[in-house]
Amino acid sequence: MDSTQYPRKQRELHNHHFDSTVWNDFQFRDDDIVIATYAKSGTTWLQQIVSQLIFNGQPNLPVAEMSPWLDLRVPPKEIKLPEVEKQTHRRFLKTHLPVDALVVSPRARYIYIGRDGRDVVWSMYNHHANANDLWYQALNDSPGRVGPPIEKPPQSILQYYQDWMDRDGHPFWPFWENVRSWWAIRALPNVMLLHFESLKRDMPGEIRKIASFLGIRIDEARWPDILKHCSFDYMKANAAPSVPLGGAFWDGGAETFINKGVNGRWQGTLSAGDCVAYQHRALDELGPECARWLATGERG
Ligand code: A3P
Repeated sequence: MDSTQYPRKQRELHNHHFDSTVWNDFQFRDDDIVIATYAKSGTTWLQQIVSQLIFNGQPNLPVAEMSPWLDLRVPPKEIKLPEVEKQTHRRFLKTHLPVDALVVSPRARYIYIGRDGRDVVWSMYNHHANANDLWYQALNDSPGRVGPPIEKPPQSILQYYQDWMDRDGHPFWPFWENVRSWWAIRALPNVMLLHFESLKRDMPGEIRKIASFLGIRIDEARWPDILKHCSFDYMKANAAPSVPLGGAFWDGGAETFINKGVNGRWQGTLSAGDCVAYQHRALDELGPECARWLATGERG
């Protein structure tokens, strides 16, 4: 018998985006895959990678539709859950919840991808500043929103960053607890931690590790196509099937969402003092090992 201690759900999370209760009614299957991130950390990239592994390098897969964000409260669970119940392929669901607001099932495999908080904010600013009326309507005017509406971002990215730091993840959700919660369960047999930077540095090597974690044998004849379909250039040029609602929520469409795909864009805007403050905060919130991992992708 498996004597591993799996975390139990401790709380629900509700806001303009979240309804964490969706997971309570989700019926797990033995081969389910859960792709987890804080947000703006390579979720879509990882969904693409997993889809390519499951479907052996097939092009033009409707990945966003196949791999819904389960804890997003629109559409509501009455619509979303029957859809995933109908799926006959190996399922790969997306979540942005911290571990204590999620259901962690021994039947599923969880992959969490991390990214430096500064890179997250730079990506989030692009996501938020280019969001159109449809996005605001879906989040603010649909039934079930808890808490304040999400507002337009300030003009200045520096101000956006400062608000996010001062109010821990504002106007999205707390950052540090999210990272900390996944780091804490990294040794579970059904959990894998990845990092955006490591994926950038060695995508083929990281994809092979993901395949092995998921028990998927790579078809070497299809390997070049798998890599091609996961590359930034391909995903940017073929963004619509991978991006939520084909990019309908953003000015400029799906290509706006697959924006630059690089880290460190905050250099030159954040001062040396801002960076020292960030590093101290990361250390306080996460401890040295986890802070180092979050900044570099390096462990041990
Ligand atoms: P940027 O906004 O910094 O460009 P998420 O899917 O979690 O919202 O993350 C989105 C970020 O992942 C965006 O970062 C996007 O460009 C990046 N991304 C998506 N696909 C990628 C790929 N194949 N290679 C590198 N970055 C990718």
